[in-house]
Amino acid sequence: MDKIVNLAKRRGFIFPGSEIYGGLANSWDYGPLGAELKRAVKEAWWQRFVQARMDVVGIDAAILMNPKVWEASGHVETFADPLVEDKVTHERWRADHLLDKEGVDPTGMSMDEMAKAISDKNILSPAGNELTAPRSFNLMFKTQQGVTEESSSSVYLRPETAQAMFVDFQTVQQTSRKRIPFGVAQIGKAFRNEITPGNFTFRTREFEQMEIEYFVPEAQWEKHFEDWLAAMREWLEFCGVDMKKVHDLEVPEADRAHYSSRTVDIEFDFPFGRSELYGLAYRGDYDLKQHEKHSGQSMEYTDPISGDKYIPHVVEPTFGVDRTILAMLVSAYQEEKVGDDMRVVMAFAPKLAPYQVAVLPLQKKPELVEVARKLAGELAADFRCDFDETQSIGKRYRRQDEIGTPFCITVDFESLEDGAVTIRERDSMKQERVSMGEVADYLKKAI
Ligand code: GAP
Repeated sequence: MDKIVNLAKRRGFIFPGSEIYGGLANSWDYGPLGAELKRAVKEAWWQRFVQARMDVVGIDAAILMNPKVWEASGHVETFADPLVEDKVTHERWRADHLLDKEGVDPTGMSMDEMAKAISDKNILSPAGNELTAPRSFNLMFKTQQGVTEESSSSVYLRPETAQAMFVDFQTVQQTSRKRIPFGVAQIGKAFRNEITPGNFTFRTREFEQMEIEYFVPEAQWEKHFEDWLAAMREWLEFCGVDMKKVHDLEVPEADRAHYSSRTVDIEFDFPFGRSELYGLAYRGDYDLKQHEKHSGQSMEYTDPISGDKYIPHVVEPTFGVDRTILAMLVSAYQEEKVGDDMRVVMAFAPKLAPYQVAVLPLQKKPELVEVARKLAGELAADFRCDFDETQSIGKRYRRQDEIGTPFCITVDFESLEDGAVTIRERDSMKQERVSMGEVADYLKKAI
């Protein structure tokens, strides 16, 4: 993990946020390479699950929603973790995590039962101090909307993107004229005041989700559930995630939300242990029914052919953007011995690599730089393209390997004579001579 975190910082993928002010605990900024990678992932996801599918439409909803949304969804009452405090250091911990570590299964325990288990087992904080009794801590960030204190009202930063798809269900269905089964997708930020953020970008308080609420007739949920599970695995393969490290966990009933009769966590073997990457949940008609009850607006769907009226059921595939990037970084990282040298390669899938091609003049000579710059400018219209004229060519290849650029193009003195360049492929390090006019086609085929 240290190697990944160091490389991410050194090369400008991801580094601590507000660093010149000493940072802000567990906030991370995506630098030039991280931003390209993240954008490529989100665009590919949208392309695959929204644009290429006639049965899914996308929305881009407001982060601040009417607070009644979170009452209806159950977040105000139940979106909470059990928190205990170290009586000396005042550090806060999740009681369920501490119990779990001591071999006590906290599933379904009330606060009183957790307090008793902590005291019976004499569980102390990681610093070895006594703990307070657990209390329920709501994870939603509360803020004020309004100009003056008197006129302002409390609102929440959304803890998931999902609720907008339920709240907007009728408008989206009517305006898009989609027939069930169909899905509504969204990519966006979500916020949770996590008690124990950590493990780099794995658990943060501000993160991004890509979610789909797929509306189905009740009788069809099982088939759609299986289809989405397969689609999620195919997506991970496309992202170049190491599938040997991916595992499905059938979430047992006691750990599932009360309205879900099946949930699968897609887990990944991160360097710090096996943990949730994505989730797939069958949510029944719980959400639409709750919003119907709380808003007084009908959430009923009328099938235009059969005339059947019913509240649709929902299968929800949810994908964390930041965890996708982390799993990709972990999967891509490779160390190779080349002669006496060590080569670090980020073997990203060429479609998603931050830079897909780098143009390198062999030496920093004006006549080479001019031709190389012109070629880079042309390629940049169709590919994520880097240009680098500093240091020796060997060092520049190593740098491009380390940031995962699948193709390097070298412009040398011969190029000035024959109009051809050398294309070097990252993984095999094989080099090929290609005429400059054919480079774009070569890359289109290879990427
Ligand atoms: N709408 C369902 C939902 O939000 P979730 O399992 O709470 O379900 C979905 O979150 C996904 O969001 C997770 O699988 C994970 O990828 C990501 N996620 C959740 N909390 C996160 C956090 N604190 N930091 C980074 N990613 C997080």
